[in-house]
Amino acid sequence: MSDSAPAIHPSSSKSPSVAVIGAGAIGLGIAWRLASAGARVDVFDQGEAGRGATHASGGMLAACIETEPGEEWMLPLNRESQRRWPAFAAELEAATGLSVELRTEGTLYIGHTADDMARLRFLHEFQRGLDLPIELLNGAEARRREPYLQPGVAGALFSPEDHQVENRALSRALHAAVLKAGGRVHEHAAVTRIELRGGRAAGVWVGDTLHPADVVVLAAGAWSRGVEGLPAAGRPPVRPIKGQMLALRMDPAAPLLRHVVWTPTTYLIPRLDGRLVIGATSEERGFNEDLTAGGIFSLLEGVWRAVPGVAELPIDEMWTGFRPGSRDDAPILGTGEVEGLVYATGHHRNGILLAPVTADAIARLILTGETDPVIAGFGIGRFREAA
Ligand code: GLY
Repeated sequence: MSDSAPAIHPSSSKSPSVAVIGAGAIGLGIAWRLASAGARVDVFDQGEAGRGATHASGGMLAACIETEPGEEWMLPLNRESQRRWPAFAAELEAATGLSVELRTEGTLYIGHTADDMARLRFLHEFQRGLDLPIELLNGAEARRREPYLQPGVAGALFSPEDHQVENRALSRALHAAVLKAGGRVHEHAAVTRIELRGGRAAGVWVGDTLHPADVVVLAAGAWSRGVEGLPAAGRPPVRPIKGQMLALRMDPAAPLLRHVVWTPTTYLIPRLDGRLVIGATSEERGFNEDLTAGGIFSLLEGVWRAVPGVAELPIDEMWTGFRPGSRDDAPILGTGEVEGLVYATGHHRNGILLAPVTADAIARLILTGETDPVIAGFGIGRFREAA
């Protein structure tokens, strides 16, 4: 079946039954949209809802500042989702009464040395060439925005449209929204196998129990490739990319930072409750969950260099998470060769940013058979074509 195949579910019923594998921001977002439209939705997760990459992430909505050469083709998708974020957050908050703490101060990317500034100038030229609203600041201007930056900061890029949400609040709100809309979320219910009948997806197996469904959505993040039952070509080429992170505790009444701040080696994300989230390593270590001295040292060293005042702050938490990285670092969205199976995985560094566009486009695909042009280039078929 091609990415634009019209028949996602076999009946012409307006209310298909859908099994979503994975209760992260992606799976829950899709389930919310589907349940709100009257579909019968069951979401399955191997653990607690929202405790995978969604829990581990930083919640940055960085469509602009993170764009590097070679990633231009992802920009329309990233920017479209960024554009949808304020309405998505407002709708979610109205549906649940729960805040997702969307903060709109923007992002600074600072440099310390002449080499750092050469790189920032290059990025600035490149990003301006893509019409991205990025400003180049000198050191004094950067410190006017963030007075606790180290006094010798050489300069910064300022990205006024790259914001953040509190990712853990987001998963709580999405979980509540799915339930309110009539969907079901099954926690500690690992899907071991997708049931295929006559070559089409017909449900999911949890232990010895088959849950039949018209449509199966594979949104299991870094675990997506491990779900059994699919032919080799149907297994998404997604692997875990480990990230170590930590959080410090600031005084919420006198926070050291207000913007998201990137340094040459780390990023810092100040939360409204005073947590300062710091990330992240990027490691090819499979599902290894170890926190390492070297990993945490590199994060703390980068942060201390940028904001020396952090040395006084207590450590609140340290954790690891697993980004779902596809072979080309872009998400896998839409249908493939297995009828009735829809992919929504491989979001790599951008799962929270891409939650709104993924939820909207995948729900639309399932409910109407229409492929939103913004996801058209992101089907699993691109890997076969590239082989
Ligand atoms: N988006 C930030 C990260 O993946 O570390």
